Amino acid sequence: MTYAQINVSPITPGVGAEVSGVELGSLRSGQAEELSAALVDRKALVFRDQNITTAQFAAFMQTFGETVKEDLNPEEGNPPEVGTIHIRPKERQRINFWHMDHSFRELPSPVLALHAQMLPPCGGDTLFASLEAAYDGLSDEMKSRIEGLHTLHKVTQTQNSKRRHTKEEIAAMANAPTVRHPLVGLNPDNGRKFLFVNIPIYCRSIAEMRNDEGDALLASLYRHVQRPEFHFRLCWRPNTLIVWENVHCLHYPVADYYPHERKLWRVVVKATERPVLA
Ligand SMILES: [Fe+2]
Repeated sequence: MTYAQINVSPITPGVGAEVSGVELGSLRSGQAEELSAALVDRKALVFRDQNITTAQFAAFMQTFGETVKEDLNPEEGNPPEVGTIHIRPKERQRINFWHMDHSFRELPSPVLALHAQMLPPCGGDTLFASLEAAYDGLSDEMKSRIEGLHTLHKVTQTQNSKRRHTKEEIAAMANAPTVRHPLVGLNPDNGRKFLFVNIPIYCRSIAEMRNDEGDALLASLYRHVQRPEFHFRLCWRPNTLIVWENVHCLHYPVADYYPHERKLWRVVVKATERPVLA
């Protein structure tokens, strides 16, 4: 893919790109369209040295759709679309596994973004895996075995849910409805299939299989996504910003920086479509 208004350097053949020649606080004509196309192509775009305000961050994200009011600890003075992921000194980050956000919703968030504010001296990296690359990397036998299957997803309690919900709301999670999604999705933006799996705490079972059989298959697919050829590792620097396709990726925030502090701003794009069966 070629671009006239931005520079796009792939990070690995399968996923990710560093994008330069762009100031996210003041996009030039034609850049928004090229960034949207680059996101579909690379799944995750990394921008360095973006010293922008939270209002500029929220405005920039409208490039990728309507932004939603954040439920993740909005801070006073920030626009309601900008949430905070803040691990304080001597607090342990408990989310330390490959996952997709919100797969337990009928409409999982399609695009997410993070902007680095406070970083540990080293560590605290985030890894991103392409579920399109992971699907392409399956054997033909496995592709035909999983065709047409559905998975059942359900919300669970995490370190973040304890921060943003009351005790009563957390108790109500046990009664939350189970959501059914295709195991192999079709991305309408590029016609590619993606392996729509998530960590078993969210992706609970395969609708068409007995639990033991479905659990073993889901575990092997979840392991498959974690192969290094499907992911890249983002080493944050101050003012690094990443935008990624949440539904077509898993991410892994590495909790290796205790007892240091880490703070990121987050913006979420509103979902308008259900994942469709390939
Ligand atoms: Fe996450």
